[in-house]
Amino acid sequence: MFHWLNESTTFFPSSESGIDMDPDDLSPEWHDVASRDQLDPDFPLGVEVNGQNVGLYLQDDEVRALEDICPHAYALLSQGFQENGQIECPLHAARFDIATGKCLNEIGQHDIRCFPVKVEGGRVSIRIPIKVEEAPK
Ligand code: FES
Repeated sequence: MFHWLNESTTFFPSSESGIDMDPDDLSPEWHDVASRDQLDPDFPLGVEVNGQNVGLYLQDDEVRALEDICPHAYALLSQGFQENGQIECPLHAARFDIATGKCLNEIGQHDIRCFPVKVEGGRVSIRIPIKVEEAPK
C-alpha cells in the first residue's frame, strides 16, 4: 500500500509499519509543520496539526512522523527519550520503533501510526488522517 518513493526527500510508511493506513484515510494536502533545522537526532519535536498530536524524529538523517499519543495512558511520546531508533514514553517506559511505529514492549499495548513525510526547501511537511474518530486502533 505505502512504499518508498524514488524521491529521496519523501517517506511513505511501508506495509511493514506498525499500522497500515489506507491513503484514502489521509489528508490529500501536505501540512507544513517545521523547519528541518529544528530537528535533532536526540530530541523529538512535538507538533499539533488540526488537533492531532504528531511527533517528528530525525533518525539516521531521515525525518519520521509518528502518532504522538502513547496508547497506554495518553502521554506525549515526543516528551520521552529517543535512543537507538526507539522512543520511550516518559510516563511508564513503553517503547516504540521510530521507523515503523511498532510497539516493543507489553505496556505500550499496540503499535502507533507512521505518517508520510516530505522535506523540501528545508521545510518538513506531513500528511495526517482526515478524521480522528476513524483512526485505526
Ligand atoms: S503513558 Fe506511555 S507507557 Fe504509560
